[in-house]
Amino acid sequence: MDKVAYLLNLLGDDINRLDFSDVHPPNIYNNLAKMITTLPLVEDTYESETTLAQTKTEKSIRSIYKDIISSHKHFNNFFETQNHLKYISNSLQISLPHHYSSLDPNHSWMLYWLINSGLVLNHEFPQEITQLATEKMKTLIVDNGKGGIAGGKNQLGHVASTYAGILLLVCLREYELLDSIRYNLHSWFLRLKQPDGSFVMHYNGEADARSMYCVLVVCSLLNVLTDEIREGALGWIKQTQTYEGGFAGVPNTEAHGGYTFCAFSSLFLLLGQNCNNRVDLKNALQTSIDLEKFIKWVVSRQLNLEGGLSGRSNKLVDACYSFWVGGCYGLLESVLAVDIFDKQALKIYIMNCAQNKDGGFKDKPGKSIDFYHTNYSLMGLSICEHSVAIAEDKNINKTPDFFGYNFTYAEVNDDINTTEINCVFGLPEVLSKACKNYFLECDK
Ligand code: FPP
Ligand code: ZN
Repeated sequence: MDKVAYLLNLLGDDINRLDFSDVHPPNIYNNLAKMITTLPLVEDTYESETTLAQTKTEKSIRSIYKDIISSHKHFNNFFETQNHLKYISNSLQISLPHHYSSLDPNHSWMLYWLINSGLVLNHEFPQEITQLATEKMKTLIVDNGKGGIAGGKNQLGHVASTYAGILLLVCLREYELLDSIRYNLHSWFLRLKQPDGSFVMHYNGEADARSMYCVLVVCSLLNVLTDEIREGALGWIKQTQTYEGGFAGVPNTEAHGGYTFCAFSSLFLLLGQNCNNRVDLKNALQTSIDLEKFIKWVVSRQLNLEGGLSGRSNKLVDACYSFWVGGCYGLLESVLAVDIFDKQALKIYIMNCAQNKDGGFKDKPGKSIDFYHTNYSLMGLSICEHSVAIAEDKNINKTPDFFGYNFTYAEVNDDINTTEINCVFGLPEVLSKACKNYFLECDK
């Protein structure tokens, strides 16, 4: 009810004239039946590659959902935890097939995607795996962090590989190693900083919302988010909000779910430091960006038939946006104190269209499973399975750094047993919190 009232209010509707007595918690089959009665999205006659792909996707998803309804499968509990864990463990131990060679700059990413996926499923990895992962990461650290972390052997340090590598080391609780490189990484980031407040991805590289987010996350986790790093960052991010309400990679380009996540989470990291509670943060967001327009854009990413999320206007559903866009929903839920999307519908999409029964997750029906979509689908499921709040009482949670401390979680339809994830960092909350605590204690 609160959700309906909130959304109507946002849309300028008079909520007082409405009677909510017939609003009930969603029934999955009713939900699904409503989803498949959605008219095809593409109604104009101009054919393009995208309209054809959309028609094809709708056709395959409609048939999956119709099949579920007609066969009365109890689909919502049909989650292949053991097969997902097998896929993750095998992938960590085998030599990757030749078609993975294009992922050679992504070794730190692959390790993070796989290990984090297992942790979201509450898996405890054996020590020989975690040790191997740490040893491998050590080989990617360039000059003790003075050159960042590379994505592969003999490669240049790169901000995105650095972010993935640091998340992995946080997953592995390798605090001493992190401590030995954190000031060098901080100095490297400052060398990558541009006069307009942004950061380039590597020497002579491009600057965009991803590099901003990656730098802020690493600095926040390692307690080196200094004024020098923050300088000009807020002003630069503000410029990337577009006329649609979402955020683009760089000013004056198209709003996109991936960049929007980076920009919105960065705002949490930048503004959170001066906020004591949820209302403070909501006010700070409202004065920095057009929050209402952002909410309208972000809720429009959930597709009526598919239930899953798209990354931009008139584009297709893709399971990875369950985190990039779903993460924005989680963050918004924490500041607005109301959830703003249909969690059941997203779960239906992830479980039935993205899940592979033999383990792993894919973008959409017809595509193949991969580590990236597995990680972001699982984190998306976790967002659907928990509700997140920021404590209201500043006296309880006042700390020098707001995030990783004030989020509290409640379980909603947790029939899969995913752990709570911190939507700012893309990590299990318990791990981001432990890391931040470690360095806060260290620096006391
Ligand atoms: C478009 O792909 C995708 C992008 C332009 C970039 C997406 C950015 C992210 C996923 C964020 C990365 C975050 C970090 C932390 C490095 P597309 O055109 O194939 O997809 P679409 O049709 O769904 O828009
Ligand atoms: Zn994807």
